[in-house]
Amino acid sequence: MNEIVQYEIDLQIEMCIKIEVFDMKIKKICLTAMIVSMGILLCACGNQQSDAEEKIRIGVTYYNHDTFLDQLIACFKEKLCELEGSTSEIIVTIRDASGSQRTQDDQVMELINAGCNVLCVNLVDRADPSEIIDLARENDVPIIFFNREPVAEDMKQWDRLYYVGAYAEQSGVMQGELAAAAIWSNDQIDRNKDGKIQYVILEGEPGHQDTIIRTGSAVDTLKKNGIELEKLSGGIANWNRAQAQNRIMQMISQYPNKIELVLANNDDMALGAIDAYKKLNYTESALPIFFGIDGTDAGLKAVADSKLYATVYNDKEGQAAAMAELAVALVVKDGMDEIEFDEDRSIYLPYDKVTADNVEKFLVE
Ligand code: GAL
Ligand code: CA
Repeated sequence: MNEIVQYEIDLQIEMCIKIEVFDMKIKKICLTAMIVSMGILLCACGNQQSDAEEKIRIGVTYYNHDTFLDQLIACFKEKLCELEGSTSEIIVTIRDASGSQRTQDDQVMELINAGCNVLCVNLVDRADPSEIIDLARENDVPIIFFNREPVAEDMKQWDRLYYVGAYAEQSGVMQGELAAAAIWSNDQIDRNKDGKIQYVILEGEPGHQDTIIRTGSAVDTLKKNGIELEKLSGGIANWNRAQAQNRIMQMISQYPNKIELVLANNDDMALGAIDAYKKLNYTESALPIFFGIDGTDAGLKAVADSKLYATVYNDKEGQAAAMAELAVALVVKDGMDEIEFDEDRSIYLPYDKVTADNVEKFLVE
């Protein structure tokens, strides 16, 4: 009897061990599959490193796809590859939050659980970072917010929160100055010769710092430069080319041949407006004048082709470099002294004006 019990126990122990080994194997397979499916980028830039050195594991989550952001993230990956030659191995995991703050909160948890030792977060809702901040603080993982600026109060929640972006106001002022200079130099823009410029404005997401501030400062700057304005219409197009095309179609049907100036909070929306006029077969001389912001590849090309009068360069290379250098310095705990902050823990890269006269310089960047 005793023997049988003993045998059963042995068998159970043996089975448990097998299950555990099997379980480990499954875990290993799952982990491998996860690493592949998570789209982890291991920079293949060749670099010898001892196991003792801490690997730099960067977790990135961004609000959604859009033209500028996709180009910014591509620059960030490139920059990390360059840096990897001179530092520890870098592993990057990138997540798209598809416009949901809930999803993004979960992604942050998953990135922390996967061992990321620094996070780069492009908030879906810039006014709602508390859950992410709490998670990061509990696990002592610093955060570099980028492009979508948290409000000042939230930046004070913890001293390991950073921001990399640009001064929204500067981009609006530059757009206003570019438009004012164009209007003063060409009296054909005031097509109905009433001494005022009839304009419409296409805006990004409501609540985004680049929407509110760009719109306000572009219009104020035009006025300060002596341009009399008459606003015909405005609409939200969420940075999106197709949405902007739809919006402008409605505005054109409401104000046929009346619009003289189109201000857009970004290039994609300015291009959407140009698409609408093209679709309606407007002749060149009947077109309004268009202004964007970003200097995306398509935006720059449109400036070079004289379709978009001017844009304002949003320095994605500079922002990507600042994020990459900061991320590495935070993990290796070296080089923080060399990083220049514009305010507390924030870095703002300057914008630049782009017209047909200097677009070549930006096209090669
Ligand atoms: C802005 C940019 C837009 C859009 C937005 C997303 O800085 O001009 O095109 O990418 O960020 O947050
Ligand atoms: Ca007019």
